[in-house]
Amino acid sequence: MYCLDRDLSLSGVGNDVFQVDQGDPAAVQGVIASIRHPVHLIVDDGSHFPPHQLSSFSILFDQLLRPGGLYIFEDVETSYWITVDIYGYPTR
Ligand SMILES: C[S@@+](CC[C@H](N)C(=O)[O-])C[C@H]1O[C@@H](n2cnc3c(N)ncnc32)[C@H](O)[C@@H]1O
Repeated sequence: MYCLDRDLSLSGVGNDVFQVDQGDPAAVQGVIASIRHPVHLIVDDGSHFPPHQLSSFSILFDQLLRPGGLYIFEDVETSYWITVDIYGYPTR
């Protein structure tokens, strides 16, 4: 299992957390280069900021997801919040 998180870096047996800002396409691209094989499932539960969701999707769906794999966005309701921020990003 591979994770990308802006605030966390970890390495364990069978799992790695890469400290990457998903709003930085070059950084996301760099992680793909180190994973090197397609995956069955991608879950975007990161910033919940739509421009980040779109830029991550445009890279990860094409370059990391196996054909027939599943791509999930979590918590898309935040796109409709109008008065608060999440992780410092505006939700409106
Ligand atoms: C709702 S938590 C989910 C974490 C994990 N999926 C879980 O279920 O425990 C969202 C995570 O996204 C991370 N995050 C926020 N903004 C980010 C960004 N721009 N790029 C990457 N990760 C981000 C936060 O640090 C946080 O750990």
